Amino acid sequence: MTGSWWKSAVLYQIYPRSFQDANGDGIGDLAGITARLPYLAELGVDALWLSPIFVSPMADFGYDISDYTAIDSLFGSLGDFDALLRETHARGLKVLLDLVPNHTSIEHPWFKDSRASRESAKRDWYIWRDPAPGGGPPNNWLSEFGGSAWAFDERTGQYYYHAFLPEQPDLNWRNGDVRAAMHEVMRFWLKRGVDGFRVDVIWHLIKDAEFRDNPPNPEFREGDLPHRRLLSFYSADRPEVHEVIRELRAVVDEFSDRLLIGEIYLSPERLVTYYGKGLAGAHLPFNFSLIETPWSARAVAKLIDRYEALLPPGAWPNWVLGNHDRPRIASRVGDRQARVAAMLLLTLRGTPTLYYGDEIGLPQVQIPRDRLRDPVARSVPALGRDGCRTPMQWDASRFCGFSAPPPWLPLSEDAAARNVAVQSGDPGSPYNLYRRLLSLRRRHPALAIGGYRPIPAEGDMLAYIREQSGERLLVALNFGSAPASLSFPYHGTVALSLLGDRSGESLRGRVDLAGNDGLLVRLD
Ligand code: NOJ
Repeated sequence: MTGSWWKSAVLYQIYPRSFQDANGDGIGDLAGITARLPYLAELGVDALWLSPIFVSPMADFGYDISDYTAIDSLFGSLGDFDALLRETHARGLKVLLDLVPNHTSIEHPWFKDSRASRESAKRDWYIWRDPAPGGGPPNNWLSEFGGSAWAFDERTGQYYYHAFLPEQPDLNWRNGDVRAAMHEVMRFWLKRGVDGFRVDVIWHLIKDAEFRDNPPNPEFREGDLPHRRLLSFYSADRPEVHEVIRELRAVVDEFSDRLLIGEIYLSPERLVTYYGKGLAGAHLPFNFSLIETPWSARAVAKLIDRYEALLPPGAWPNWVLGNHDRPRIASRVGDRQARVAAMLLLTLRGTPTLYYGDEIGLPQVQIPRDRLRDPVARSVPALGRDGCRTPMQWDASRFCGFSAPPPWLPLSEDAAARNVAVQSGDPGSPYNLYRRLLSLRRRHPALAIGGYRPIPAEGDMLAYIREQSGERLLVALNFGSAPASLSFPYHGTVALSLLGDRSGESLRGRVDLAGNDGLLVRLD
């Protein structure tokens, strides 16, 4: 399928600091990822998305970039990157980079120039405003990482806007030179051969031209994240952002077969607008709704129907269960339901993105206070993200084969048992479940690209059919711990069961599932 490899692909997110340390500093790097390519090929994923690897003071672990076209020495060199790209391509896998166009590091030469004086050539590259008439920040906008989104700069007597840390000043995307500069960054990597980008906070790129105050959020409750006090009505998801994204897409389309993914945390109704008019926006606006929805069969069934119904004609769906910002799925729903979640993710219609470590059921690791590294954990403890960024666990050795010295974040308490080496020898392990599901998805076009049809079900049961060219596969999942059954007007043969081995069992008009079980049934 030229031009749309990403429709049938399974994406795999790597957090480079935590995948594999090759140079012995306790932090993952590019050579480490290259060394683990055989693992990724055997697992059966199709494309790797690397969280940022560019030069950065690491205030937000690489989401604060000071040089967009060079690799941070922590991760290696451009030569290491080229080797990774070459070897990944040699195995038939793709590489996606993280593009962070909304903000730079405070150390980026563009910002240094911009803040030097009000007359600086790059002053307008960032968002500078005078203090409010009575003093204080220009408006009420809040940083997602706590406090006002405006930082006062003594030297020029103005505030600059930062949607995240003060060390991450927002670029001014209304400025044509900013757009052109970022397009050049994209071309630099696309020419090198990367297969596309995941674009950080794409819905933030344009802010209200008049900088109007954000309205209060009527649904805010004490205990919610502080920035949710206001609706980000004027600071994000502005109508003009779609033109900016259309331009990003046009740059990607200058090269053949490349992919543009947008990171977007919005309701499904708003999310689907990011496919753009005429589908000229993001190929895949990341769909995080499974992360945000309560884990119940009825809630998930409703969500799938809602999302499927909202998709514009021709738009391709996608699903995500976890990432480097959100609590690990295994801890959110428990080990047993994490298997149900894996089967859901890999059998729904649309491109799935796996988060490294979820294939061995890595839990959210409790990090002792003195080992917290995420700056956000200090400002908004509830948002701390270290627990989902811990090192990949490869084997039962001292630091799980991740690094020779102690790793930058602790391993999980059950690391001796929860690792790739132990799980690959256990047919019932999460790792082998992921491998089987990935291999089924590869072998059955009905799963990879087929249609989706919900089957009426009640209680804890979720069921649907995937179909393509005469092949029909039924997926039945039990979101509860008690047995559940479903009557349906079909006959078929079990191809995979989550618990025990029921494959080959023939089913006639009815599915009976143990608690936490799931079945994939090839229908006659
Ligand atoms: C979203 C990224 O996923 C997150 O890790 C980062 O902190 C913010 N954007 C700011 O770049």
